[in-house]
Amino acid sequence: MLTKSPLLLAFAAGTAVAAPASSSSTSSSSPAASASTLPGVLTSKGFTSQKWIKALEKAQQVVADLSFDQKVNFTDLRGDTHGCSGLTFPLPSAGVKEGICFADGPTGINSRYSTQFPAEVTTAATWDRDLFYSRASSLAKEYAKVGANVPLSIVVGPAGRSPYGGRNWEGFSAEPYLAGEAVRTTVTGFQDEGITALVKHFYGNEQEWLRIGAPQGGYFFSYPNQTIDSIIDQATARELYVAPFAEAIRAGAGGIMCSYNEVDGTFACENKEVLIDLLKEELAFPGFVLTDWGAGHTTLGSALNGTDYVEAGSVKGNIYGSFLGEAVKNGSVPEALLDDKIVRMLTPYFALNQGSLPSIDFNRYVASKDSASVARKIAEESITLLKNSNKTGRGLPLKDLQDLVLVGSAAAPAHYGILSNLNSAVYYAPNNDYTGFVSDGFGSGGSPQPYAKDPLSAFTARGQQENRPVVVDGYFVDDPEQGFVKTPFGQNISYLESKLAYSNATLVFTSAIAMEGFDRTTLSLANNGDNLIKYVADRHDNTIVVISAPGPVDMSQWIDHVNVTAVLFTYFSGQEGGAAMANVAFGDVNPSGKLPFTIAKNISDYDQGAIYNGSVGINPVANFSEGVFVDYKFFDKQGVEPLFEFGYGESYTTFNVSGLSLSKNKKSNPAPVRETNEKLFVNGKQTSGLYDYAYTVKATVKNTGSVDGAEVAQLYLTFPDSTPNKMPVHNLRGFAKPFLKAGKLQEVEFNLRNKDLAVWSVEKKGWVIPSGEFKVSVGTSSRNLPLSKTFSY
Ligand SMILES: *[C@@H]1O[C@H](CO)[C@@H](O)[C@H](O)[C@H]1NC(C)=O
Ligand SMILES: *[C@@H]1O[C@H](CO)[C@@H](O)[C@H](O)[C@H]1NC(C)=O
Ligand SMILES: *[C@@H]1O[C@H](CO)[C@@H](O)[C@H](O)[C@H]1NC(C)=O
Ligand SMILES: *[C@@H]1O[C@H](CO)[C@@H](O)[C@H](O)[C@H]1NC(C)=O
Ligand SMILES: *[C@@H]1O[C@H](CO)[C@@H](O)[C@H](O)[C@H]1NC(C)=O
Ligand SMILES: *[C@@H]1O[C@H](CO)[C@@H](O)[C@H](O)[C@H]1NC(C)=O
Ligand SMILES: *[C@@H]1O[C@H](CO)[C@@H](O)[C@H](O)[C@H]1NC(C)=O
Ligand SMILES: *[C@@H]1O[C@H](CO)[C@@H](O)[C@H](O)[C@H]1NC(C)=O
Ligand SMILES: *[C@@H]1O[C@H](CO)[C@@H](O)[C@H](O)[C@H]1NC(C)=O
Ligand SMILES: *[C@@H]1O[C@H](CO)[C@@H](O)[C@H](O)[C@H]1NC(C)=O
Ligand SMILES: *[C@@H]1O[C@H](CO)[C@@H](O)[C@H](O)[C@H]1NC(C)=O
Ligand SMILES: *[C@@H]1O[C@H](CO)[C@@H](O)[C@H](O)[C@H]1NC(C)=O
Repeated sequence: MLTKSPLLLAFAAGTAVAAPASSSSTSSSSPAASASTLPGVLTSKGFTSQKWIKALEKAQQVVADLSFDQKVNFTDLRGDTHGCSGLTFPLPSAGVKEGICFADGPTGINSRYSTQFPAEVTTAATWDRDLFYSRASSLAKEYAKVGANVPLSIVVGPAGRSPYGGRNWEGFSAEPYLAGEAVRTTVTGFQDEGITALVKHFYGNEQEWLRIGAPQGGYFFSYPNQTIDSIIDQATARELYVAPFAEAIRAGAGGIMCSYNEVDGTFACENKEVLIDLLKEELAFPGFVLTDWGAGHTTLGSALNGTDYVEAGSVKGNIYGSFLGEAVKNGSVPEALLDDKIVRMLTPYFALNQGSLPSIDFNRYVASKDSASVARKIAEESITLLKNSNKTGRGLPLKDLQDLVLVGSAAAPAHYGILSNLNSAVYYAPNNDYTGFVSDGFGSGGSPQPYAKDPLSAFTARGQQENRPVVVDGYFVDDPEQGFVKTPFGQNISYLESKLAYSNATLVFTSAIAMEGFDRTTLSLANNGDNLIKYVADRHDNTIVVISAPGPVDMSQWIDHVNVTAVLFTYFSGQEGGAAMANVAFGDVNPSGKLPFTIAKNISDYDQGAIYNGSVGINPVANFSEGVFVDYKFFDKQGVEPLFEFGYGESYTTFNVSGLSLSKNKKSNPAPVRETNEKLFVNGKQTSGLYDYAYTVKATVKNTGSVDGAEVAQLYLTFPDSTPNKMPVHNLRGFAKPFLKAGKLQEVEFNLRNKDLAVWSVEKKGWVIPSGEFKVSVGTSSRNLPLSKTFSY
């Protein structure tokens, strides 16, 4: 969604409020009695948590005691109210005093008094489950303090089918195991703090162009019949796009947001196969389904096909509840379905004890030092060293410095100030020409911040801590071919030339930006950053490139330049980003980030068909015919060598991985909240324990260099040749990140579950473990896998 864009105003106009339904007709029936017969209605079946069962019973009781009008009223969401992006009406008998409050995410609260965390893609690049959890728990603490029940906050769709996807940075990774582990721990981190984990967008929301029709007036909403239709076969859906959602749901996620796009010809938010058959029945989702803002189209399609709440900006206006009331009264929608929608909202509310949240106030100061330190740790641990040549004192870490020169507008404070990034970015995103430190992406998924540590301030501060304080100069110039026109302080080319003569290391800061509502139009660096890098590298033999970007960028013009001695990829690093960059560059922190995507040698190596960027028409189609062969799996299949592969990242030390072993593991692995109804077949027979463990794989990681540091050991699975679906040669199925003192070693463990070994069978409508020989490979990237072992299930 996007509520804060000035261009959105045009759309809000037609909103109307219908007369409330009269209270005379329908009387309340017992939810328990009517409920169990309708598909998708929440029952106590499969719950493993007593807390949730009690919450469900309490919710059912509350609903049974409501009048018809009260029920209708509660399903009628208000728009932007009390600072919430959406709000239900109060429900005093449930203790809901002001309404249940939905608030934007995922990098932080839409308030300058809260912390701006690194983006999810940045978080994924840490490959550190403890950090996934602490980010979630720090975020949740801030949402709790403003009284927001439900951050609209955890993104695993878009996954990142194409590197051009405009919102990929809001999510973790297109690698379903990595995204699944990240979302599982994130859901737990949120809900352990009593905040509802809402996971979005379900599903097939892999592009911005035509996400809900063509740009019209502004760029946002238009004719629904121009909305992109994601055609995704059932195996690809289960194995890739839905897989992280399954992990989130099994961890007890209380909310799911359905997406704008159509799935196989029907809007995702009005699609029975998507919301009832898959989400509520097969995955046993225990919470409520909320539409994205404006993704509700018809009352009956939404109400009957699995949506519980339609948010403000529905094409019919913000009046869903009243229509729903009419539809119940005229017999089109069973009252048990209306009841279920409320039960599904109140169950997580009670399970997480949200009656104890404070009153809603988005102006409350909730940022904290603890949050800032988590934000910095993630920024530091995510930074990915892609190239380094430290010969003769060049490259990283920086040492023996007298003069350090920082070049590029991305080293400077954000051009439009730290508070206005959401609005101003609308005008810069399409042209990729925003200047200043880019700590976050833009749109509803970005967030303001109390401060931002831009690189110049951070390197200046860090330089002062050296025994001989470093002289740090900043040159906020961009494209030399354009005569450095963008420099705010009138510096010109001769200034920079003279400075390079005595600089010991020259860091070139460049960026690329991304924003909701637009796909990336180019993978090139903003403001002709390639030209700036080449200009400096041609003149200085210790040119270090630092990139802030939402995803892959084109490095082909300069990556092999002999004077480019190091490259740091920093993603969108949040308010502490500059400080993290300085700490890594000066060697206080040894870089340990690993790419959660592939960087190609040539952008033509990416799957060019993986996004529909064609003309506006009626019923445009995005055919996901590449199946699960996305990102590194696509490169592996094509036999194309990437520049930097998925999972890659260098360090200031060296590691060795050895001693691979594999043993059976029979440990059960019960769901924390509710078991799914997914089926498992072994040797043609249905069996149980899809999520139970099957094997334990161990390996030893040793720090063989002279600097302390962390390494990410990665396990990839190869399926037997007989596997029914054509599976990629390597599939990530485990990772572990030990921190090792120089010279020390540690044994790491990967636990493979039955589901990790299974593929989806369309015929059986369930998961099947193929017979034949599996292979596990362990190493330090998707293409550096020195160890392997085979086994049969
Ligand atoms: C719902 O109740 C609130 C008062 O709590 C009232 O202001 C609002 O108009 C009601 N909406 C409908 C559709 O009845
Ligand atoms: C598409 O939607 C617009 C707006 O509702 C409508 O005018 C047009 O007739 C529709 N086109 C088709 C082919 O259904
Ligand atoms: C419900 O979803 C199915 C697809 O699962 C679709 O065919 C049908 O038209 C939808 N019904 C409504 C009322 O939108
Ligand atoms: C019942 O009410 C709903 C909501 O207003 C409307 O969409 C539907 O067409 C109505 N059905 C009948 C049979 O009147
Ligand atoms: C560059 O800037 C310096 C200092 O402001 C000035 O003396 C010089 O004339 C400028 N050169 C050009 C080519 O504009
Ligand atoms: C840094 O620059 C100063 C001044 O040019 C020089 O004396 C010193 O040797 C340089 N240090 C390194 C490590 O190159
Ligand atoms: C590398 O930098 C030096 C200046 O330090 C320059 O003389 C040389 O031409 C550069 N090399 C290349 C290949 O541009
Ligand atoms: C990238 O690939 C395209 C198309 O194959 C080719 O024309 C171009 O020269 C390549 N660019 C580089 C830098 O290799
Ligand atoms: C769509 O993407 C392809 C591949 O990147 C590109 O060649 C083409 O120009 C794009 N078309 C539009 C309309 O943006
Ligand atoms: C999608 O692509 C596949 C494979 O190319 C093709 O068989 C199928 O007909 C396409 N579906 C649509 C709706 O275009
Ligand atoms: C250069 O880097 C290697 C590891 O890549 C490290 O072992 C070595 O100490 C570094 N050399 C210097 C001079 O810093
Ligand atoms: C590194 O590990 C390999 C096995 O992967 C082993 O053969 C080799 O001896 C190890 N080297 C060192 C320096 O530990």
